[in-house]
Amino acid sequence: MKTISRISQFREWRKGISGSVGFVPTMGALHDGHLSLVRKSNEVCKHTVVSIYVNPQQFAAGEDLEHYPRPLEKDLDKLDCFTVDGVFLPNNDNMYPEGFSTKVYEEHLSKVLEGNSRPSFFQGVTTVVAKLFNIVQPSHAFFGEKDAQQLAIIKKMVTELNYPIEIISCPLIREENGLAMSSRNAYLSDDEKKVAAHIYLALQEGKNQLHSGVRDPQIIRNSISKQISAQPLLKIDYVSVADANHLSEITESISGDILVSVAVFLGKTRLIDNFSYSPSSNK
Ligand code: PAJ
Repeated sequence: MKTISRISQFREWRKGISGSVGFVPTMGALHDGHLSLVRKSNEVCKHTVVSIYVNPQQFAAGEDLEHYPRPLEKDLDKLDCFTVDGVFLPNNDNMYPEGFSTKVYEEHLSKVLEGNSRPSFFQGVTTVVAKLFNIVQPSHAFFGEKDAQQLAIIKKMVTELNYPIEIISCPLIREENGLAMSSRNAYLSDDEKKVAAHIYLALQEGKNQLHSGVRDPQIIRNSISKQISAQPLLKIDYVSVADANHLSEITESISGDILVSVAVFLGKTRLIDNFSYSPSSNK
């Protein structure tokens, strides 16, 4: 497993790799969610590259950039259990040299949900992922359904900017109590993690209602909101029932595929979770 920090060195190393290359971009503090992407890449591709980079461009002022966990040695140990050819660990000077001013924007999907609450977030994500794709030049890239909106935006970017890369979506991995795994869960105490699991339970309740035939999106939103609000420590940012393709809120009866998603604060920690539902298969 080769670790490389400089872009020029990575490019040199990449020249010696042939065959399919699976790429797993991360911000580190790796957990089983990240590792499920690495496992999938090992199944699908001859080679696997992982990047670990806490991208400052996707954090707004006042967010947790400084506190974001960076347990690099532990991360590398975890990756050692897989077949990882290269780990790319760029630094800020190399990624965003003085005077850097070129951005990649997606202008529709990135305006709603996470984009509404964190207006500069997705332009930071699309810019860094575009740069990483150009540097790593993968044949496949693996993204988690934990960040369903990010996944949709990256898929759109790859299509619209003609990247010859297959985007593979990987299922959301949860803790035993249902809490969606996230590097930010490191901010939570054990008691807070128990409270946070109610986000999952609320989503499950919404899913059960859909399975039993409820088609009014507001009933689903209200039910999820009520369950989350019953936990005094949880503060809702949004509860959304949106069209799965356009991510616009559903106002009429649910008839096509939907994404049900929430963002919730527990103290200063912002947690997101979601599930997809298709009325045609009732799944
Ligand atoms: P990060 O939050 O580290 O996540 C890296 C990848 O792991 C993303 O594709 C994310 O969806 C996936 N992931 C995280 N938690 C998961 C879980 N519980 N189950 C399944 N997959 C999970 O997302 C980012 O970093 C950044 O925005 C990045 C794409 C690296 C750009 O900076």
